[in-house]
Amino acid sequence: MSDQGFTLRTFTVSDLERVMHINTKCLPENYSQFFYKDLYTRFPETFVLAEMDGEVQGYIMCRIEKGWSKRGKLTPTRLCHVVSIAVMEDYRRKGIGKTLVEEGMRRGRRTYDCKEGYLEVRIGNEAAVNLYAKLGFTKVKRNYGYYLDGEDAWMMAAPLDEF
Ligand code: ACO
Ligand code: ZN
Repeated sequence: MSDQGFTLRTFTVSDLERVMHINTKCLPENYSQFFYKDLYTRFPETFVLAEMDGEVQGYIMCRIEKGWSKRGKLTPTRLCHVVSIAVMEDYRRKGIGKTLVEEGMRRGRRTYDCKEGYLEVRIGNEAAVNLYAKLGFTKVKRNYGYYLDGEDAWMMAAPLDEF
């Protein structure tokens, strides 16, 4: 138990239903069972859960990619892509989201040798943009009409040496 009252652990298959529940409660971007299965079989270490009050209340899931650095240099880079993160509404503003991103990025660096983290976030999602900025992510690109409803996304990225 952390001093903040929640604990982190790695995702297991039996958590799938709960994670899909949190995802549909918290975000309009929802995924098939196959999509989750592909992520947790390929990159199990960066699929992290936060538990509080005897139940999973938050998750982060990442995909490890080889690509170009998102931070302006034309350098082939191993990237830790935050595909999705969410915390149940009653459990927000307790540090869970921040701790999940920190742990996901740390594991991306240590386990998969990633050099950079990145993600897309709705430009109107102030909570998430603030959270990422607090952790050293900067806006590197605006993806116009990225979401199905037409909203733009910020792509945000951070070097992983600090994590
Ligand atoms: N308004 C402004 N700033 C906020 C807010 C908010 N509502 N929430 C968090 N922040 C910022 C603050 O700087 C906060 O630090 P502070 O509490 O000391 O001021 C910092 O982020 C850390 O907050 P946490 O408590 O760690 O974050 P939380 O556990 O509440 O989770 C999250 C944040 C995941 C964004 C949550 O609000 C959520 O689940 N939202 C709905 C789903 C979502 O938007 N997910 C991100 C989509 S983008 C993607 O998945 C790649
Ligand atoms: Zn993405």
